[in-house]
Amino acid sequence: MKSREGNTLIVGLTWGDEAKGKIVDLLAAEHDVVVRYNGGNNAGHTVAFGGRTYKLHLVPSGLFREGTTCVIGGGVVVDPKVLLEEIARHEAQAPRLRQRLLVSSRAHTIWPWHSKIEALSEKHQGKGKIGTTLRGIGPAYADKANRVHAIRMGEFLRPEHLRRKVERVVEARNEAFTKIYGDPPLDAAAVWREYAAYGEAVRPMIADTTAYLLGAVERGKRILFEGAQGTLLDIDHGTYPYVTSSSASAAGAWPGSGVPARAIGQVLGVVKAYTTRVGEGPFPTELKDALGDQIREQGHEYGTTTGRPRRCGWLDTFAIRYSARLNGIDAIAITLLDVLRGLPQLKVCTAYAVDGKPLAEFPDDPAVLEQARPVLEDLEPWTEDISAARKFTDLPRTARAYVKRVEEIIGAPVRVISVGPDREQTIRRP
Ligand code: IMP
Repeated sequence: MKSREGNTLIVGLTWGDEAKGKIVDLLAAEHDVVVRYNGGNNAGHTVAFGGRTYKLHLVPSGLFREGTTCVIGGGVVVDPKVLLEEIARHEAQAPRLRQRLLVSSRAHTIWPWHSKIEALSEKHQGKGKIGTTLRGIGPAYADKANRVHAIRMGEFLRPEHLRRKVERVVEARNEAFTKIYGDPPLDAAAVWREYAAYGEAVRPMIADTTAYLLGAVERGKRILFEGAQGTLLDIDHGTYPYVTSSSASAAGAWPGSGVPARAIGQVLGVVKAYTTRVGEGPFPTELKDALGDQIREQGHEYGTTTGRPRRCGWLDTFAIRYSARLNGIDAIAITLLDVLRGLPQLKVCTAYAVDGKPLAEFPDDPAVLEQARPVLEDLEPWTEDISAARKFTDLPRTARAYVKRVEEIIGAPVRVISVGPDREQTIRRP
């Protein structure tokens, strides 16, 4: 199999929001193709350069590198309206984007009934809700698994077939909306008018991306796989049921792109220098005090997609070690290290204990995870502004010690350190 070494996978090791967008943009310069393989516009990837910040939800974060082809793989769920808005918003800065962007004909699509059913379901759950992004992600993946009412991107190439299908689906969905939830029905004709226009606009970008990517592997092209969300939100390996509906670990890259896992040379796990989580679910190192608030403010920890305040806590290396092993990582990227500046204390979680007894493994049972208390290790904080550091030796001794301790606990080298949002604010280590 060709071009293994040149192919890199980027995956979040916690609950998403690890600043993967910045790392993808950075490494895109060294790759020919960037492919998103999971999730949808629940993701919020941020890229900053030249004094401007760009927020992305669906288009791969390699879009600003003119030499790259951007692929939305079959494992992604695509809201065509969001996709087109995003292309329009960024195409001035992303030359020839429409010619460089391929959307898998196998990717499933998000329609108005998906977000509507999700909003009704979350409301009815009350306290037991998941705290989703309300973008229709879960219902779209549910339809994909269920098959009966699912619609793939490729169906936009057959508008007459799709118009009839939309009529059927809306009719079935309206039964539930009106009879179960007592909510007004959707108007199939209006939905079709709107989506037929989106279909026309996305048509030229729809392609058999599996065939394209397999060909790219054979031609020795360097491919960068962009994971969305994070390993602890993975539908199979995350903190179920408080997870997203896709394979958000490295395990999703194969089904989500069609490229066999054996073709991937390097796996780079991304972590923030502290840990955050959005939505409901257990979070053992969460700081529900002034320190947590300080991290949130210093790190601007508000959701890129929903604007919700993120829950903040100490770096959870116990959870990260689990994710690192699960993804088979080769190296780590630590982001937002600059945010820890000036904290009155600095800790990392090295283990979990339940009733005073240490756990051998990251719990598979959410009830155990709820009870887990973090075992914390004190590290020396720093007060220096590190945002201008460009070499590891530019960092103060304390910040270097923090990075080295993380390497030691996780058992993988830290190859990238981000000290600010801009592309340039990065330290690379051999
Ligand atoms: P969903 O993906 O909208 O179904 O939301 C399920 C859970 O995943 C919720 O806790 C969300 O807050 C979380 N989530 C989904 N996408 C992201 C992301 O890109 N970053 C962080 N959390 C996310």
